[in-house]
Amino acid sequence: MRLRSIELEVLDRESAVRFFRDTWGLLDAGARNGISYLRGTADIPYVVSVAQAGEPAVAAVTFAGSKPELERIRKRASAAGARLGPVRDFDEPGSGSGYFVEGPEGHVFRFVTERKRVKKLRPDRDRPLQVTHVVLNARDREACTRFAVDVLAFRLSDRTGFMNFVRCDRVHHALAYAHSDNSLLNHIAFEMTDIDAVMRGIGRLKDAGVETFWGPGRHGPGNNVFAYFVAPFGAAVEYTSEVQRVGSSYKVGTPDDWKWPPRRNDHWGISTRNSAAISQAERRFGFRPLAA
Ligand SMILES: [Fe+2]
Repeated sequence: MRLRSIELEVLDRESAVRFFRDTWGLLDAGARNGISYLRGTADIPYVVSVAQAGEPAVAAVTFAGSKPELERIRKRASAAGARLGPVRDFDEPGSGSGYFVEGPEGHVFRFVTERKRVKKLRPDRDRPLQVTHVVLNARDREACTRFAVDVLAFRLSDRTGFMNFVRCDRVHHALAYAHSDNSLLNHIAFEMTDIDAVMRGIGRLKDAGVETFWGPGRHGPGNNVFAYFVAPFGAAVEYTSEVQRVGSSYKVGTPDDWKWPPRRNDHWGISTRNSAAISQAERRFGFRPLAA
């Protein structure tokens, strides 16, 4: 299974699409039924969908898996009493079938089988490859993590004093739950080809008037290079690279394994963090509840 896309609803679809395409570096993957689709250079039909709505929201975080994987997860979700949508076909790039499922705090996930794969494009240091993780705020991150592991078949990679990281393939984390007083979207991370691409991205965003609010730096868990921004449509977005790949022998880290020296919050220690901007952007996008 792998993380495939995030389905966003914004107040102004056109300007969000313009940002993702002209500044962020994603490529147009078409539009249908009033929804715009954008892709990266990886072999994924699209990584972000953008619909217009009266308030900002996430309709789903979408994972692609095999039919047996999807059936297994659906059975477990049903047994756990989770809110589940019907199995149906989706008219979108990739044209899979699948279903929505709601986590304990209303985070909405969608699982799809991909009927059509697309060709990988030539890696480009000015374009993201794909979405590599999504971080969700959680009031009870332990309960959310249990749901991700026991029901959605994720594996726990690391636990810090603030966040739990889970994975669904070899990438260190596809999802993470951040300790919070709400259950909103925290941020969306896009994988770049390398550190140089992240640094060039910082410059490109700066040219467009979007300042980095944290980074560049290198995280502890996942060991990835990062730079965070607030997109003009309001969400926190990250360029990242060199995300650690782990196997089944990876030892799950605990908060004691991830303590920083005073005044440090990453390996490099060169960046400052605009906490006011971060905390606003990290509490703007709620999840649209599944239709009853
Ligand atoms: Fe991140």
